[in-house]
Amino acid sequence: MSRFTLLFACLLAFLLACRKENNVVTTIDPGDEFSNKVERYLNVPRIPPSYKVQLPTYVKGLFPAAQPNAALAQLGRVLFYDKKLSKDGAVSCASCHEQAHGFADPVALSTGVSGLMTTRNSMALGNIQWFAGMLGLDSLGNAALPLFWDSRAFSVADQSRAAFTNSHEMGLTMPEVLAIVQTQPYYSWLFAQATGDTVVTEDRIFTALTHFMGAMSANHSKLDAALALGGAQPDINIDFQNFTAAENIGKQLYLANCVSCHGSVNSIQKIFEANNGLEKPYIDKGKGAISGKFYENGIFKVPGLRNIELTAPYMHDGRFKTLEAVVEHYNSGVIEVFGLHGDLLSYDPITLSYDPKRLNLTETEKQALVAFLKTMTDTQLGTDARFSDPFR
Ligand code: HEC
Ligand code: HEC
Repeated sequence: MSRFTLLFACLLAFLLACRKENNVVTTIDPGDEFSNKVERYLNVPRIPPSYKVQLPTYVKGLFPAAQPNAALAQLGRVLFYDKKLSKDGAVSCASCHEQAHGFADPVALSTGVSGLMTTRNSMALGNIQWFAGMLGLDSLGNAALPLFWDSRAFSVADQSRAAFTNSHEMGLTMPEVLAIVQTQPYYSWLFAQATGDTVVTEDRIFTALTHFMGAMSANHSKLDAALALGGAQPDINIDFQNFTAAENIGKQLYLANCVSCHGSVNSIQKIFEANNGLEKPYIDKGKGAISGKFYENGIFKVPGLRNIELTAPYMHDGRFKTLEAVVEHYNSGVIEVFGLHGDLLSYDPITLSYDPKRLNLTETEKQALVAFLKTMTDTQLGTDARFSDPFR
């Protein structure tokens, strides 16, 4: 071997070594903890992507600028998709909160551990940060907007503890959850990256889930595009140029009949829970079942309507399969019940009484209202890799 060939061989070996070093992302290097313990199981980047929430200008100012932390959110993503954190190893948060469905479940009732069913319809998670004092965004103080159909959880910690320990959902005790997290090879690296050390606590699990779900922002919709043109305080009453004629008609119907509960299209709502006249007698008493107060029977959380097109079926029991059926409920089906919200009543001058409101919409108007509801569909969250299943 000539000196030149030897030099060339050394150079080649050196270059190959470098390449291996750069390629560490795709080869398992037993000496490297990320490569060996995380990448082997999970499709997550060594450096987590930003989970910063891009709030539209017209929402900015409602909340302080606290932002999800990238490493905590990435840890939250793994916890959210980890089926090992359930009694039978078959159920994760994502089993009932599917990304493609606005993080709701496309069936009326969801299946938890051992095939047991939930008693209510799973809820969409896009924009849930608007519903709780998450991430220290507790601008609402103790009045942080509660979670669940009956508003029984006041933080993601309360809510997640309930999901892990509910015998029809994940079926574990919190000590069992901690023990499982401690034995999975990937968590020590992820915890160290997110929190500085490998200690697993309940608090840290809930914080990570808070940061992950807090980053699920559903603000990339046709409606948001229209509102964005209006600057910090868009006029929602004018016809939007990017809307079809039907969508603009639907918007006026929404502003006239729905906005009081489901919120001005550009901010969170003013009424957070109400009885919207679904049933009599009650199969599910909602808030009344917890408080024992008869006048709270039938009261449920008013859900935000971002991504509503993706989150069928609808209502706490998933009774309506389509948005058309929902619109027909408000048009002609609201039932007279004690405690029916005043905004769903109208005064009848002949009988001198308040009766459930009938909207008497034409077919075209009903379709227009549905068309407007579909302008709230976010086009990014459902396919954003940062929120997808990281397990290999
Ligand atoms: C077996 C199905 C199932 C599993 C598993 C599950 N959920 Fe849920 N989730 C639901 C249902 C059903 C509701 C509504 C329950 C109610 O109101 O009583 C809900 C409600 C929620 C809410 C409240 C949303 C709101 O706007 O009020 C959040 C947040 C949530 N789940 C997050 C999670 C997280 C995090 C996990 C994992 C730790 C999880 N869920 C596991 C079915 C499930
Ligand atoms: C008085 C307050 C109120 C008004 C007014 C109102 N809603 Fe609702 N809406 C609610 C409540 C409360 C729920 C949840 C009820 C339940 O599930 O038991 C709900 C649920 C819904 C849902 C299902 C959400 C989901 O995630 O399953 C849709 C869609 C909806 N409303 C659309 C509308 C439309 C469209 C209008 C106007 C025609 C309207 N609402 C008017 C209070 C109201």
